[in-house]
Amino acid sequence: MKIIVHQYFRLMLSTALVAGLLFGCTSTDNNKEVVLDNKGKANASILIDKATEQKIDSVLSLMTIDEKVGQLVQYNGGWDATGPSDSQGDQYKLEKLKKGEVGSMLNVTSVASIRETQRIVMENSRLKIPLIFGFDVIHGYKTIFPIPLGESASWDLNIIEQSAAIAAKEAAASGLNWTFAPMIDISRDARWGRVMEGGGEDTYLSTQIGVARIKGFQGNDLSKSNTIAACAKHFAGYGFAEAGRDYNTVSISEYDLHNVILPPFKAAAKAGVATFMNAFNDLNGIPATGHQYLQRDLLKGEWNWDGFVVSDWGSIGEMMAHGYARDTNHAGEIAIKAGSDMDMQSFTYEQSLKTLVEEDKISIDLIDDAVKRILKVKFQLGLFDDPYKYCNEALETQMVYSEENLAVARDVAKKSIVLLKNEKALLPISKDINSIAVIGPLANDKNSPLGNWRGKGVYNSAISLLDGVKAAVSEDTKIYFEQGVALTIPTVEPGKNQFSTALKFNTTDRSGIKKAVNAAKKAEIVLLAIGEDAYQSGEGRSFTDIGFKGLQMELLEAIHKVNKNIVIVLMNGRPMDLSRPTELVPSILECWHLGSQSGYAIADVLFGDYNPSGKLPVSFPHNVGQVPIYYNKKNTGRPSNATQITYSHYRDAPKTALYPFGFGLSYTEFTYSNLSLDKTEITTTGELKVAVTITNSGERAGEEVVQLYIRDLVASFVRPVKELKDFKKISLKPGESKDVIFTINAETLQFYTANKKWEVEPGEFDVWIGGSSTTALEERFRVVE
Ligand code: BGC
Repeated sequence: MKIIVHQYFRLMLSTALVAGLLFGCTSTDNNKEVVLDNKGKANASILIDKATEQKIDSVLSLMTIDEKVGQLVQYNGGWDATGPSDSQGDQYKLEKLKKGEVGSMLNVTSVASIRETQRIVMENSRLKIPLIFGFDVIHGYKTIFPIPLGESASWDLNIIEQSAAIAAKEAAASGLNWTFAPMIDISRDARWGRVMEGGGEDTYLSTQIGVARIKGFQGNDLSKSNTIAACAKHFAGYGFAEAGRDYNTVSISEYDLHNVILPPFKAAAKAGVATFMNAFNDLNGIPATGHQYLQRDLLKGEWNWDGFVVSDWGSIGEMMAHGYARDTNHAGEIAIKAGSDMDMQSFTYEQSLKTLVEEDKISIDLIDDAVKRILKVKFQLGLFDDPYKYCNEALETQMVYSEENLAVARDVAKKSIVLLKNEKALLPISKDINSIAVIGPLANDKNSPLGNWRGKGVYNSAISLLDGVKAAVSEDTKIYFEQGVALTIPTVEPGKNQFSTALKFNTTDRSGIKKAVNAAKKAEIVLLAIGEDAYQSGEGRSFTDIGFKGLQMELLEAIHKVNKNIVIVLMNGRPMDLSRPTELVPSILECWHLGSQSGYAIADVLFGDYNPSGKLPVSFPHNVGQVPIYYNKKNTGRPSNATQITYSHYRDAPKTALYPFGFGLSYTEFTYSNLSLDKTEITTTGELKVAVTITNSGERAGEEVVQLYIRDLVASFVRPVKELKDFKKISLKPGESKDVIFTINAETLQFYTANKKWEVEPGEFDVWIGGSSTTALEERFRVVE
């Protein structure tokens, strides 16, 4: 019989601590075989689930309270190649690692560092329980993909899953086991810097995207060496920070919590996400970290989810600043009772939990439950089989930043671009054009396209727009490049990321504008790359002004005086105020922060190798005063007729967005026709089919995102005027037509009602199918008991 030594238990056996605890398990065929080093005992194949439970119990029974609390502790380790040093502030953490009183590390990266840190635990601690290593792999590890908001504009769940799978493969090859992604916070306020990190304003779209990302990271087997544990964050409400100010208080109704914010999390739990992260904000007065209803009643209770919850950075301790916990002990008590299993870097659990048990303030069962959840994920990852499983330098070199991965990054990037405006068909540009001016602070920027939260993306490693244009046009095309104005004034030495520093915008140096104007004069067409610096969005990057910082508008106005053929190549992490650019220029291409292959992907679209197919996952307002603005709003009692002052609108701005949710142009035209329902009445448990014909009535092949929206006309709670409920991305050759059929059933129609449950209420519903949230064919049907 084959004997595979089970690393953890071999170590355990060598210390003679667990003899006798492991045996007696039976085998089944549909479970993974785990063969123990049973020193000659035959047939030790075991049922993994049951056996894992038993192993977890056996490990738990051996643990002291300090070791148990230790499993709930996560430290930040900013150290490089050789692990923590003996000399500096790391000494404390080093001692804790040696004693086996740390469960996880974050921000330790590279095979060498991870192996060294794991070794400290495996060689010194009593029980040798492996660490789990986490890192923010948000949109790529080293091969950087578009920022999540940008990628969401592709509405292409396959490529979103693929990009997460590549990120997982690279991270795993570098020794990591766990990413703090996806962020599935719904956000409707462009002032909030973390808009860039999510799937946008819509619950349905964000839910689908969140699940795709989880599948990509985790695959269907966490024990494989190319998958890592995912983390659904931030639970919950963080994206609704009041006035878009990061970390701010969140006040929302129970109705919006259930209908708008929680569905992506519920779907993540159902999809088997291994971990959740709670949030910095308070939700209706209770910090999310200490929120029993969210974590215990809902997530671990009603949703029956069995992974573990990590706190956000320091958030357990921060409950004191919130004014919700009196002191460290109180904070620990609130958090553990609420269901926060792991303490990220607040040092609260290690200072409080043991005392709380000794003083009988909490039961040891709470700690045991948290430990078991953490051990379970470690087992699932295969860390007990081999704590160094992920540590393979050869794989790291081979897998990370490979040509193959970069090719996918280019594909995802081009599919994430949204064509917002294209008058006079200025785009696509012929590759044989005589002359082209490439202007702007972001035109040759190789750093901003990497965006914020760029993992191990290397400073200045992206393909710039200028690089992309050079590679695409014919040899005879003259390219005039001018930066015009700098966007920011460097505040760190060249070569270093500005991540933790405040951005300083250039508001005085106009010296390059004249040269830029001269370049624009000479060229047939101007590509103007403006927008946001990589670190203008992201955590802690809230702004009251979502316009163009510094002198960018001056540059645009100056160029516009000499050349009207301007294409704005917009690079940004949030919806921006595009009202003036929209007045001035014929073409605007929304290019977000597209990642490592940015310039090539943009050139693919500019020069027509790829017909843009992206659609906005967020509304772009006319100005900042309109935010929060989102398409699935509710009607007021005075909903229409903007000419009367008593109707609900602003006196100085339209009621609608400048570029609405779901909007995006193509180089071809799509015509929608024949919207039909197979029945006009169904019961609350019935279903109907809605069909529509889409025709490519233009001259280029293209892809279209066909979107289905509904409205529940009268309900026990006021329902939104329109809600996305399904979509399909299809491709059509010129002249080709396709029928697309959607199914509407209870899942489509239900919502969290006045009865405080998910149900379908009988009544009339409108249904629309179209290419955006504002243009669509419409029908009506009725739901009866
Ligand atoms: C963020 C989390 C992130 C964590 C670890 C926090 O500040 O809110 O999203 O995962 O840091 O880097």
